[in-house]
Amino acid sequence: MTQATQTQQALLEALAFQLELGADEAIGEAPRDRFEETPPRRGADPAAPPAVPARPPAEAWQSALALARAAATLDELAEAMRRFEGSELRLGARNLVFADGLPGARVMVIGEAPGGEEDRTGKPFVGRAGQLLDRMLAAIGLARTAPAPEDAVYITNILPWRPPGNRTPSEAEVLSFLPFVLRHVELAGPDFILALGGTSAKALLGTATGIKRLRGRWVRHEASALPLLPSFHPAYLLRAPADKRLAWRDLLSLRAALDGEAPDV
Ligand code: URA
Repeated sequence: MTQATQTQQALLEALAFQLELGADEAIGEAPRDRFEETPPRRGADPAAPPAVPARPPAEAWQSALALARAAATLDELAEAMRRFEGSELRLGARNLVFADGLPGARVMVIGEAPGGEEDRTGKPFVGRAGQLLDRMLAAIGLARTAPAPEDAVYITNILPWRPPGNRTPSEAEVLSFLPFVLRHVELAGPDFILALGGTSAKALLGTATGIKRLRGRWVRHEASALPLLPSFHPAYLLRAPADKRLAWRDLLSLRAALDGEAPDV
């Protein structure tokens, strides 16, 4: 083995060790001495998202609205979101994660934000949570690959860019992308919206109520006038499998709506 190959081997082993420790993202070239940095305020949660304004700056909001409204097709909307400069999330992400499934499907699923696997592939819900979502949908006869709108789903997220380290999106981030999400619903033209998880349900319904109280109850989504069903996020169900039974109830309610039973909104 040459010295160069040995060095390369050692670097790969060091990298594998970092992965085992849970590092899943390269943040910078040089190490940071966090002990030298300003200590967090007493009581501050070190895992909390960075301090950001609760509302996006007015120009960002205006720009999102203008770009979203000008998009006449789904392709144009994806391009508009790629060009939108009102959020720094795009700087740290690899791919725009726009949508998957069949535009025009009767059900539109809206999740929170891409994770690592989605960021790598550019498709929503392809990691472990996505695989669970596919199984849940299959249990009521739906699939993202189905060719007919009655059996298909169309899947997207509130945010198209992965937040660094998969942190929960800030309120300002969610609000900046809301005009795109609402235009996305208009252009995709579903009959029903399935909002997965608190971030999605709260953003679409404009409420602070948590998902445990929102789930399972159909609501009229004001902006689109469509019936919307909030339910648990599959990533949560992976951590709390006992709640799958409640998610199953929600899925049966969605199935009944698809079969013609008018949701009680
Ligand atoms: N979680 C989400 O909310 N969306 C994805 O696309 C993947 C994980």
